[in-house]
Amino acid sequence: MENKADFKYPHTFILLGASGDLAKKKIYPTIWYLYRDNLLPENTRFVGYARSKLTIEQIREQSKKYMKVRPGDEQKLERFWELNEYVAGSYDKRVDYEHLNQHLTKFEKGPVANRIFYLAVPPTVFDETTVNIRNACISIKGFTRIIIEKPFGRDDVSSEKLSNHLAGLFKEEQIYRIDHYLGKEMVQNLMTIRFANKIFSPSWNHDNIASVLISFKEPFGTEGRGGYFDSFGIVRDVMQNHLLQILSLVAMEKPVTLNPDDIRNEKVKVLRHIEPIELKDLLVGQYVGNPEGQGEEKLGYLDDPTVPKDSVTPTYALAGLFINNERWQGVPFILRCGKALNERKAEVRIQYKDVPGDIFDGHAKRNELVIRVQPGEALYLKLMSKKPGMKFDVVETELDLTYSMRYRDTDVPDAYERLILDVFTGSQMHFVRNDELKEAWRIFTPVLKKLEDEHIKPIPYKFGSRGPQQADAKLSAYDFKYSGSYKWKKPTVC
Ligand code: NDP
Ligand code: BG6
Repeated sequence: MENKADFKYPHTFILLGASGDLAKKKIYPTIWYLYRDNLLPENTRFVGYARSKLTIEQIREQSKKYMKVRPGDEQKLERFWELNEYVAGSYDKRVDYEHLNQHLTKFEKGPVANRIFYLAVPPTVFDETTVNIRNACISIKGFTRIIIEKPFGRDDVSSEKLSNHLAGLFKEEQIYRIDHYLGKEMVQNLMTIRFANKIFSPSWNHDNIASVLISFKEPFGTEGRGGYFDSFGIVRDVMQNHLLQILSLVAMEKPVTLNPDDIRNEKVKVLRHIEPIELKDLLVGQYVGNPEGQGEEKLGYLDDPTVPKDSVTPTYALAGLFINNERWQGVPFILRCGKALNERKAEVRIQYKDVPGDIFDGHAKRNELVIRVQPGEALYLKLMSKKPGMKFDVVETELDLTYSMRYRDTDVPDAYERLILDVFTGSQMHFVRNDELKEAWRIFTPVLKKLEDEHIKPIPYKFGSRGPQQADAKLSAYDFKYSGSYKWKKPTVC
């Protein structure tokens, strides 16, 4: 399915914001892994660009502790850095981009040369950067692709402004909007689970499914990112993008083909069936310090010096929404995300309805299909079985596909690795299209405005807890039943 037709031509990967945090922690390591594993076109060079007057040695030093280097890879790493350069320049002056362009042209021998620009820059310089790329750095003998990171605006109006700005400069097929959750193994597996198995499709609807819970939990707070986080909050940071993207893959109809636009057409359709969320459908929380906790856990969100003392920005949110189409009418989709919670976890729980006409005195619990995105990718189906033995008792058990057990020798690649490689191959399947973004903001903007205009106070919850206690009542109200009786036994290796 990959289009590698262009792989014989020279490519340049230009990282704007090369001196920054994302660059050192994620992007340099990712391009190194892709290079190390011989996945990139043979003739690929890398150029970092930012305002700071740095050398490539300094860039190398900054990213050193994030680059995994296996024994035996040292020479290859040297060759990787030999292919790297750094150019210092402003984000707003065309002349600096003309200089960058001259630099790029030097290596582009031959009739074809392709360029990929990765914008790891703050949203404040986004407009000028893209205009300057368009005016001074477009490849004249190959493709130019632009990778952009969220935030894609803060609401419907700002997002549309950004979309119009980009549409004035580039064609949609040149723009790769990253939602890194779309690069995760189990998120990509959702389509296979749904559409390559006959067993699930007949029951994947409102006749059989009671509710769907999509969760994201992190066991740490804002960790010095309070300044950024406070102007966005958890709904914009995680729910409106990562969780809604997962929802659309869980709920969409089968695409006509695996063509990226066929898939994205179905994702948009399902979003169009969702009404904007109302305040009554949203519960928000903010973490406070836990006096009994250790270290950072003692500090609440408002103790972060970069956060205003009266901030009402949510660090936890639970929203229930409905998809008003024939398949899903009446089924609550619950999106839940939070920081400073008791564990790290991202998962989808498809909870089936109670079996009608109970003959087991209420002992038959609901089936649940759990797709664990992280940590430890797994797919398990909770079901009822006869307890082995002489008695006729029922027991809750599972069919368990835990990746670390089943695929022992397979490394699951990092989301960024897949997504950056997709840009080289020209596949937009796992990137967000303009109209998806528009629908996502249509669903969330009114409630975000209400929260902010009415200065709604989030419910406090302790750092390290499961979040506000009221969230469990809300879950039950949305027909998600937690029995608390299921016990999973980790298989022992034979
Ligand atoms: P449970 O149904 O017992 O738990 C489901 C989830 O419900 C919990 O993770 C918890 O998540 C939530 N919960 C806890 N208290 C409440 C409450 N009062 N009201 C509503 N929800 C509540 O079983 P699981 O399917 O989660 O499995 C249990 C464990 O076994 C997990 O750690 C799972 O990872 C593991 N397991 C692993 C398998 C594997 O690796 N293959 C296979 C099967 C299970 P939260 O706090 O987020 O709300
Ligand atoms: C980012 C959010 O998009 O995703 C962060 O801005 C969050 O706040 C991160 O921590 C989580 O990503 P992952 O891959 O670690 O689950």
